Amino acid sequence: MTTAEKPKGGLEDVVATSSAICYLDGDRGVLAYCGHDIHDLAKSATFEEVCYLLWHRRLPTRAELGDLQSQLAAARPLPESIIRLMRSLPPVNGMDALRTITSALGHYDAEADDSSPQAQYRKAVRLTAQTGTVVATWGRLRAGGGPIAPDPVMRHAANFLYLLTGERPNATSIRAFDCALVLHADHELNASTFAARVAAATLTDMYSAVVAGICALKGPLHGGANAEVMKMLLDFGQHATAERVDEAIRAKFARKEKIPGFGHRVYHTEDPRATHLRQMSLELGKRAGNTSWYDLSQRIEALVKSEKKLNANVDFYSASTYYTLGIPIDLYTPIFAVSRMSGWTAHVLEQYANNRLIRPRADYTGPEYPQRFIPLDQR
Ligand SMILES: CC(C)(COP(=O)(O)OP(=O)(O)OC[C@H]1O[C@@H](n2cnc3c(N)ncnc32)[C@H](O)[C@@H]1OP(=O)(O)O)[C@@H](O)C(=O)NCCC(=O)NCCS
Repeated sequence: MTTAEKPKGGLEDVVATSSAICYLDGDRGVLAYCGHDIHDLAKSATFEEVCYLLWHRRLPTRAELGDLQSQLAAARPLPESIIRLMRSLPPVNGMDALRTITSALGHYDAEADDSSPQAQYRKAVRLTAQTGTVVATWGRLRAGGGPIAPDPVMRHAANFLYLLTGERPNATSIRAFDCALVLHADHELNASTFAARVAAATLTDMYSAVVAGICALKGPLHGGANAEVMKMLLDFGQHATAERVDEAIRAKFARKEKIPGFGHRVYHTEDPRATHLRQMSLELGKRAGNTSWYDLSQRIEALVKSEKKLNANVDFYSASTYYTLGIPIDLYTPIFAVSRMSGWTAHVLEQYANNRLIRPRADYTGPEYPQRFIPLDQR
C-alpha cells in the first residue's frame, strides 16, 4: 500500500457492503428504514411494525402484524434456568449481564444451530422478544423484586415497563418508550451491526453474531454513551447554575475530553433521532412537573453546538428521557440493545442470505521484513 492509499482511521467513509435495510444521508440528516423516513415511523409506527419492516422490507398488513405480535408474545417468557442464571450472577453492569444471558439463551434454543432461513427468522423473532424480557427482569431482580410473567396482551414497549416496575404503565410512558424503541431499531453499518455481520459472515450461529453486537454496543463511544450522558447530568445536578455548567463543559474542552452524546461519524447535521428524543424529554419532564434535566441538557447542547459545532446525537436526550421514565441508569444501554436486536437480526439474516466471508486487509506498519531470527539464548 502506498502513502497515498493510506486508509483514514476507523474505516471512515468505507462502503463495506450492500444492504437494503437502512438508508442514511449524513449531510441532509436523513434516516430511513427500507425507504420509510424515521420521522414518519417515530410519529405513527409501533416497534412491532418496525420489526416487521426490517425483517421483511415492507410494512405489515393488519393480519401480518397480528401474527407477529402473537409470535413475539409466545417467545417472550424466559426458561426458568435463565432466571436462575440471572439470580446467580454477581451484581454486574447491565450490559455484562445481557451479554452473558443472551449467550446462554442459545443453549436453550433447540434451533440454535439450524441454519435454514425459516429457523433463522424464528430466532430473530425469539431473540427480539426475549431481549426485552431479559433486560427488564434483570433490572427487577437486581432491585430485589421477583420475576413477572410477560402479559401476552401487552405489546413490547408496555411489557418492558411492566416487567421492570411491576406496575401497568400509563399511555404516555408506553408511547414514549415505544417511540424510543422505533428510533433505535437500526442504523446501517454502525459498529455493533458491523460486528454482528462480521461474525455472521463466518456462518456462526445467530446467538453468537448478536453477542458480538452486544459487546460492541457496550462501549462509551457507541451505545454506552447514553449512560455516560446521565452520569454527566447527575454530576452537574439538576439545579446547577448556567455559569457552573458552562465553566465545567469548557474545562472538558480544554482537557480534550469528549462530551458524551455529541458528535457522529455520519451525521454532519442534526441527528434526526435526537429531534424526537429532545421533544420527548421535554414532554415527559413537563408531565412529571420537572423539566430541569431537559433545561440542563439544553444548556449543554447550546454551548457544545456554538463552541464546537457538534450536534447532539441519539444518546444525548435519551438519557433525560429514560431518567424521567424512572429507568435505572445502567439499563440505558441494554435498552438500546432491546431495540437494536431487531436491526442486528435483520442484518444477520441479510448477511446469511447472500454471504461472503468479511476479511479486509491491514496496512502493515511493523518491523521490516525479513527479520533475522536470533535464538533464545543469544537474545
Ligand atoms: C461518535 C464519535 C465516536 C464519532 O467519532 P469520530 O467520527 O471518530 O470523530 P472523532 O473522534 O475523530 O472526532 C473529530 C473531532 O471532533 C471532536 N469531537 C468529536 N466528538 C466530540 C465530543 N463528543 N466532544 C468533544 N469533541 C468531540 C474530536 O475531539 C475531534 O477533534 P480534533 O479533530 O480537534 O481532534 C465521537 O463524536 C464521540 O466520541 N462522541 C462521544 C460519544 C458518543 O456520544 N457516542 C455515541 C455516538 S451515536
